[in-house]
Amino acid sequence: MDLYEYQARDLFAAHGVPVLPGAVASNPEEARAAAEEIGGQVVVKAQVKTGGRGKAGGVKLAQDPAEAQELAEAILGLDIKGHVTRRVLVTEASDIAQEYYFSFLLDRANRTFLAMASAEGGMEIEQLAHERPEALAKVAVDPIAGVDKATATAILTQGGFPAEIREQAAEVVVKLWETFVAEDATLVEVNPLVRDPQDRIVALDGKVTLDGNAAFRHPEHEQLVDTQAEDPLEAKAKAKDLNYVKLDGEVGIIGNGAGLVMSTLDVVAYAGQRHGGVKPANFLDIGGGASAEVMAAGLDVILGDPAVKSVFVNVFGGITACDAVATGIVEALKILGDEATKPLVVRLDGNNVEEGRAILDRANHPLVTQVDTMDNAADKAAQLAAAGA
Ligand SMILES: Nc1ncnc2c1ncn2[C@@H]1O[C@H](COP(=O)(O)OP(=O)(O)OP(=O)(O)O)[C@@H](O)[C@H]1O
Ligand SMILES: [Mg+2]
Repeated sequence: MDLYEYQARDLFAAHGVPVLPGAVASNPEEARAAAEEIGGQVVVKAQVKTGGRGKAGGVKLAQDPAEAQELAEAILGLDIKGHVTRRVLVTEASDIAQEYYFSFLLDRANRTFLAMASAEGGMEIEQLAHERPEALAKVAVDPIAGVDKATATAILTQGGFPAEIREQAAEVVVKLWETFVAEDATLVEVNPLVRDPQDRIVALDGKVTLDGNAAFRHPEHEQLVDTQAEDPLEAKAKAKDLNYVKLDGEVGIIGNGAGLVMSTLDVVAYAGQRHGGVKPANFLDIGGGASAEVMAAGLDVILGDPAVKSVFVNVFGGITACDAVATGIVEALKILGDEATKPLVVRLDGNNVEEGRAILDRANHPLVTQVDTMDNAADKAAQLAAAGA
């Protein structure tokens, strides 16, 4: 789960990482009140889960509370790369002497953690990484040894941090590592990490990604979920433990196993080209156990998406045999009753396929069409979606 900057800032503060005073606001009046509380110049920052806010006009300096209110009015509602701004963070304006970059992240390719540091932080960091990679130090972190002050200093030295502030910066880096570990994060990024004229080091921005696999260890993280921004169908699928991803096409897809579902996406997209360019509407993996309840839950999610015009159920019977899946489909359609309104193309293969197909034949449900091969079934589903669109 990605966090908003204000949430990352709260976590930083809780772990002793220096941040500036600030408050989150969801309307211009609250932004004004926050600016009054902070006093002096403030910065109004769009809270969206995407980068490049500054360049998109989402980070602005206000001289006084009245201007903070005006800026908040302009920034709230602003669309930044498809993310609509619903909150702003109002923080003290910092007197910046230098901007640095620092992050800890999970380096999947090398199966370890990685620290990245550069004395040339700020908004052009992607460009820097691309054009002068040597200016961005990348140092593997041993997860057992962790990061103490000596390790932190070594990383900062490699990143070209000036000697006179390395000591203070190293203390902050150790606290960032503590945050990373204690919160089970896969990313903690500070860009910019700034040095002020008094040589204090402050985190001016924060990006944190929490590891969903560790959620069970952090009941307190539940409150960080932005239910308002969550897709209602994704929320519903999550509540039923289904792996569901919304896409932007018209053919709903249900399959068992991620590999099969992914190849189903491909064949549907390919078949869709023959039918006016229809595309997969989602990715839904019901996993190994395709019981009636799981099938009903899956169909319920898919049919709840108004963009879906047809559904392709593609199941390869393994441990859960085709007859069980077929019974699941029949029962699911009974459970859903009138709520099931879109045509279903079912392709069954594998363990107990004959029995599975016979069960669907006997049920003879008006919405269900059986097709024996994956390619033909994809073609049929695409054709039905095109007809229903
Ligand atoms: N509190 C502040 N005081 C002074 N300047 C600030 C403050 N916050 C941000 N800035 C300036 O604005 C720039 C952009 O801010 P920030 O890093 O938060 O957003 P961004 O980099 O555009 O967003 P993202 O990191 O999401 O891509 C910073 O590099 C810094 O120069
Ligand atoms: Mg930034």
